[in-house]
Amino acid sequence: MILVTGGAGFIGSNFVLDWLAQSDEPVVNLDCLTYAGNLTNLASLAGDPRHLFVQGDIADTALWTRLLSTHQPRAVLNFAAESHVDRSILGPEAFVQTNIVGSFAMLEAVRAYWKALPEPQAAAFRLLHVSTDEVYGSLAASDPAFTETHRYEPNSPYSASKAASDHLVRAYHHTYGLPVLTTNCSNNYGPYHFPEKLIPLMIVNALAGKPLPVYGDGMQIRDWLYVKDHCSAIRRVLEVGRLGETYNVGGWNEKPNIEIVHTVCTLLDELRPKADGTGYATQITTVTDRPGHDRRYAIDASKIERELGWRPAETFDTGIRKTVEWYLAHADWVAQVQSGAYRDWVSANYAERDTNTTGVISA
Ligand code: NAD
Ligand code: TYD
Repeated sequence: MILVTGGAGFIGSNFVLDWLAQSDEPVVNLDCLTYAGNLTNLASLAGDPRHLFVQGDIADTALWTRLLSTHQPRAVLNFAAESHVDRSILGPEAFVQTNIVGSFAMLEAVRAYWKALPEPQAAAFRLLHVSTDEVYGSLAASDPAFTETHRYEPNSPYSASKAASDHLVRAYHHTYGLPVLTTNCSNNYGPYHFPEKLIPLMIVNALAGKPLPVYGDGMQIRDWLYVKDHCSAIRRVLEVGRLGETYNVGGWNEKPNIEIVHTVCTLLDELRPKADGTGYATQITTVTDRPGHDRRYAIDASKIERELGWRPAETFDTGIRKTVEWYLAHADWVAQVQSGAYRDWVSANYAERDTNTTGVISA
């Protein structure tokens, strides 16, 4: 079996669902259920003996020791993290605790477990650490995309904490020989994406008739990958990745934020036209920029394509259409995640920003 952390979050739950759709190998899913963890994402696995959910913290060493010795996984995949840049700006401590201290606790427990494994299980064991392109910092418009050898230049408390965990993972390979793999992926989007991040926030705000808050000039660039393509890349790296290596994962889909917002509006105009005949783009509002906002991310995914033969299945056009359709079909999921705690976050993050409701920024 495999042990997944953070498997009730956005990417982790997509990974668990896809894994069990393609294989009967059981999954132990360790997640402490922060605001971002949601067991509803895994409702289709209720009663499935291949999925064991354990509510717990990745910083809990005793829990790790118990889970590893009881279940004897052949691999541990670490998705658990605090993942939202804006939250890291307003409250960095949780990022240090989970992303650094939690990853350290995992590494210590996994190292002890792996050292005690007999052959051939020890040789076959893998620890796969899921990371982000944000550890590389920000690119200028004319810079080449991030390769795996780009220097680490994290700019937000989120990316700094992920960078620290990447370094610990690397050090455990170099020092102790722990069989690790690291993936650094670009921005994901797709089903079960918590509506604090750009794409789901724009979809749910648009449908609710609320402003669509674009930070600054909206010309920051992100490189977008459909979440199921990220999951297939992780499966591929787990299967055939070279020990100690890092793999950048991306779909060659660089887009400015404002273009993303207009694409979402256009799809909604087509799929759920507004009763008053106006377009959703009239709801676009520019707001005060994020402090330290990284201007551009871009992933060079040649290594994983060349060495492991991985390719994304979706283009941005097919993936974003599937995503908007998913949100339209899952209004109940959206209503459930927009709890009181979600409303508190929206007012903490947006209330103090100056707004300029023009609706005229073009793509
Ligand atoms: P998410 O915030 O949606 O989910 C994180 C999950 O981890 C939640 O279920 C949460 O309950 C759980 N968790 C948080 N702290 C925990 C702790 N201390 N112990 C146990 N569980 C804990 O995040 P996501 O978007 O699914 O990201 C998953 C991973 O992928 C993260 O490591 C993130 O850095 C990385 N990543 C995300 C993106 C993206 O675009 N979302 C891109 C590249 C890499
Ligand atoms: P986000 O989804 O938070 O991901 P990340 O910061 O990890 O890339 O944001 C994606 C981009 O969208 C980023 O440049 C910030 C911008 N953004 C907005 O313009 N408005 C918003 O309300 C949010 C949440 C993000």
